[in-house]
Amino acid sequence: MLEITKGEGVYLFDNEENKYLDLISGISVSNVGHCAPEVVEAVRTQAGKYMHTLVYGEYVLEPSVRFAESICQAAGSGISVVYFVNSGAEAVEGALKAAKKYTKRKEIIAFKDSYHGSTHAALSVTGNDWIKEGYGPLLPFVKHIRFNHPEDLAQITTETACVIAEPIQAEAGVRMPDKDFFLLLRKRCTETGTVLILDEVQTGFGRTGSLFAFQQMGIVPDIILLAKGMGGGMPIVAFAGKKEILSVLSKNPILGNINTFGGHPVCTAAGLACLNKIQQENLIEKIPAKSRWIKSILTHPAILQISGTGLMYAVELDTFENTLSVVQRSLEKGVITDWFLNKTNALRIAPPLTITEAELIHGLTVLHESIHDVYGNR
Ligand SMILES: Cc1ncc(COP(=O)(O)O)c(C=O)c1O
Repeated sequence: MLEITKGEGVYLFDNEENKYLDLISGISVSNVGHCAPEVVEAVRTQAGKYMHTLVYGEYVLEPSVRFAESICQAAGSGISVVYFVNSGAEAVEGALKAAKKYTKRKEIIAFKDSYHGSTHAALSVTGNDWIKEGYGPLLPFVKHIRFNHPEDLAQITTETACVIAEPIQAEAGVRMPDKDFFLLLRKRCTETGTVLILDEVQTGFGRTGSLFAFQQMGIVPDIILLAKGMGGGMPIVAFAGKKEILSVLSKNPILGNINTFGGHPVCTAAGLACLNKIQQENLIEKIPAKSRWIKSILTHPAILQISGTGLMYAVELDTFENTLSVVQRSLEKGVITDWFLNKTNALRIAPPLTITEAELIHGLTVLHESIHDVYGNR
């Protein structure tokens, strides 16, 4: 196991001063690289001013207000309220609560093979039974339908409070949506008065080639969940959405959804610096030129399939054991990759968006060599 002593750009360093190219970004977190100077500076500056105060609306905390404004501006589509929380799972909790209270309904629809986190509600909507074993009973009134199966959308009715969906099913092995599926999902939710929650925890902040994945899908969600790549490596998470829906959380009772540290000013200052960097350096515009190398370099016959978009890919192999061997071999050669929670026979590629084409080509070449080392020529 590596003992990490330093992170810099797309590299991690261990205690023996070995350097590793990070092709997974701490799972889609370090979108602007490790210890991006702008983020480090924002953290230092804010930590020197004030840290925790109170986050229930008693004080104006400038970095948090500015970050929330920037998120709304960047998201557009009527997203005008941001609730800061501490983990993706907690964002799921808040969004589900808002949808239930707003619609006065109790049924929740989620997708098979999804992953939404480890708390009780997040686990309830997660679409895999193995990960729930021993933790029941979980939330009642939760149904799971099939991703990319339009015929299942009829199960969304006027009894349904919300549908929670990942725009791209990340832990299922970067399962891409069929072209029209989300258009039909949005239509069905609108027809039935159901709140559509998009879990952009992994897809957010540029990972898929737009700031948020929904911006490429021709739909407007009611609530989005944001985490991972949001804070430039600092822990900051949010759910954001339409005011008429999210305002139910601050009425009767006014403190209906609170937490101690959500919107910590040091973390929101980091988040703002991270978002500014993504926008000012046009990191998203540069993704397509990088993305094309993935399929053009990874051509080994042992690869069964490559799925993904932007800088979020899964490379499917045959077994978990062989996938592990490739991960290990790549690590020995100085490149970090891993597998997926719900697809253990696939390699993950999700490098920092700041990776240069030359760095990516190097990382992919090492990965290709490692596949060759494990499989030979077949
Ligand atoms: C799509 C998705 N949603 C929610 C979560 C839960 O986030 P957290 O681990 O911060 O609770 C994850 C975590 O990997 C995720 O991938």
